[in-house]
Amino acid sequence: MTRIEGEDHNRDTDVSVPRVRREPHVVRRVVPGDVETLVEVLARAFDDDPVPQWLFRGDRRRRRGLRRFFAIQLRHTYLERGEVYTTGELAGAAMWSPPGRARPGWRDLVRLVPVMPYLTGLGRDTPEAARLLSAVDAARPVEPHWYLATLGTDPERQRTGVGSALLGSVLDGVDAEGLPAYLESSKESNLAFYGRHGFEVTGEIRTPRGGPTLWLMWRRARPPAA
Ligand SMILES: CC(C)(COP(=O)(O)OP(=O)(O)OC[C@H]1O[C@@H](n2cnc3c(N)ncnc32)[C@H](O)[C@@H]1OP(=O)(O)O)[C@@H](O)C(=O)NCCC(=O)NCCS
Repeated sequence: MTRIEGEDHNRDTDVSVPRVRREPHVVRRVVPGDVETLVEVLARAFDDDPVPQWLFRGDRRRRRGLRRFFAIQLRHTYLERGEVYTTGELAGAAMWSPPGRARPGWRDLVRLVPVMPYLTGLGRDTPEAARLLSAVDAARPVEPHWYLATLGTDPERQRTGVGSALLGSVLDGVDAEGLPAYLESSKESNLAFYGRHGFEVTGEIRTPRGGPTLWLMWRRARPPAA
């Protein structure tokens, strides 16, 4: 069971967890003082992601672009209008948009468009990036849902349960509300991970000339627990 620090827990549930187990990652809400560290964590986590690899020309520009993107996403979008979680050790971050609020996401990249030529070097990807973003936007389901905009774990801490803890802590609440959830995955290798958390692939968005594919994943509303 994942614990969200500072929120109520059902202690009875803890008793059923096997005795031999790793300490769970403590999940808590992000505060402004975490942003600087988490920007670096997310920039490292997404460094080899196909979207920024495609979007930005060169390692230095990509890293600068990723830092700028995550700083905007955290500070100006999700801390204000969404829900952002991390672990006690700032090993990763998850940014969610609950139903009924504005649905930012990859389209936060639009804020980078004015500086895109500078960041990408040649700037020739700007129209393709804008096309991808509008396709992503158009594909979003209209049914009210929780939207997972970003989930990333520091590469050194991956495969230790951080991502599952960050996902699971919010999905517990999503299930309690009886709502579905949605995300776009830019890595085929993540599909099994999300599948294990109840997401199913419902579509794909492809970009021209060997650009990245985005997999659209939907997690159906669960019936309330008995
Ligand atoms: C996708 C991502 C968020 C997963 O985060 P994570 O912290 O590695 O997630 P977990 O450790 O909970 O689980 C990852 C895998 O490790 C396994 N795992 C968890 N704890 C483990 C442990 N102690 N020992 C070995 N394996 C373990 C999980 O079972 C899971 O396996 P699966 O992929 O076959 O389902 C992470 O890989 C990441 O940040 N990737 C780069 C950014 C990215 O692609 N984000 C998603 C955008 S769509």
